[in-house]
Amino acid sequence: MNYPQSVKIVEVGPRDGLQNEKVAVDVATKVELINQLAEAGLSYIEAGSFVSPKWVPQMAGSDQVFAQLSTQLSEHSNTVYAALAPNLRGLERAMECGVKEVAVFAAASESFSQKNINCSIAESIERFKPLAEQALANDIRLRGYISCVVGCPYEGSVSTETVARIAKQLLAMGCYEISLGDTIGVGTPASIEKLLSRLLEEIPAEKLAVHLHDTYGQALANVLIALQMGISVIDSSVAGLGGCPYAKLANGGAASGNLATEDLVYMLNGLGIEHGVDLKKLIAAGNFISQKLQRANGSKVGIALQ
Ligand code: HMG
Ligand code: MG
Repeated sequence: MNYPQSVKIVEVGPRDGLQNEKVAVDVATKVELINQLAEAGLSYIEAGSFVSPKWVPQMAGSDQVFAQLSTQLSEHSNTVYAALAPNLRGLERAMECGVKEVAVFAAASESFSQKNINCSIAESIERFKPLAEQALANDIRLRGYISCVVGCPYEGSVSTETVARIAKQLLAMGCYEISLGDTIGVGTPASIEKLLSRLLEEIPAEKLAVHLHDTYGQALANVLIALQMGISVIDSSVAGLGGCPYAKLANGGAASGNLATEDLVYMLNGLGIEHGVDLKKLIAAGNFISQKLQRANGSKVGIALQ
């Protein structure tokens, strides 16, 4: 079986994780978590989100988080601290904080696009274009997410052709990479393989990442398939935190967190794939935030090696 020699882990816990928490997390705790993650060797950390605070109050403190991180940049000069931006206002806030990399987020389902960012898919693409132009003109790197790549909480299954179309639109506007979001974690190795096979017909593996929520316990198996298909950028979340507040399940519950970074690192260790992360320090960071949130650690490896 072929595997990439090394993998880049995109740690989304401080953003995707904390955006969905009911317990309010203060700025100092967020900064402490981010610092512990950087200290553990994570070189790419999504540290916040410049969305409307009316929509996601949990991310309202992102400006202060980045202000504090910028004073520590020299300590972790190889770490990228990225943020979500849904519109020009978000990009402007990011630039005011000195953020060097932002991510826009589209969806492959109309209903989810409406619920999450209050516009159609086509409108979101039009909204991102001036953001992309301004970001690139200011040397800010742009990542693109697509949510609901295999299933939508409101519409059910999603067409791979729609995902392919949106991925090409995001690449055309200047995104260097597309992160494929299984927002509600319904994908299985079969549906992820089908999706990636279609996308790889037109998009090189180097431009694709996977972002797999673990609601149905499929995330690690799905990552294995993605690795076998040449994908070498994997999003994950410390302690398996998070989810999208606008991804409600049919039973009224919410989609659970991303694949836990600890579980990913353990599997990569077993496969002999390089990643640069110190598992012990990562587990300590997962325990730190789980205690602050007063919840059980969502990583099996985090619990097993406690
Ligand atoms: P809207 O209500 O249609 O837009 O929201 P609006 O322009 O009318 O703005 C509403 C208010 O928000 C206004 O304030 C704006 O100024 C303000 P008011 O005049 O009422 O006082 N506003 C902002 N404030 C600060 N920063 C901004 C900003 N923009 C507007 N950037 C909007 C449209 C896109 C803003 C809204 O729907 C929004 O913020 N949505 C974000 C939802 C979100 O963050 N979801 C979670 C992230 S996506 C995710 O988790 C999936 C992912 O992980 C991948 C996966 O798992 O699939 C990425
Ligand atoms: Mg997500």
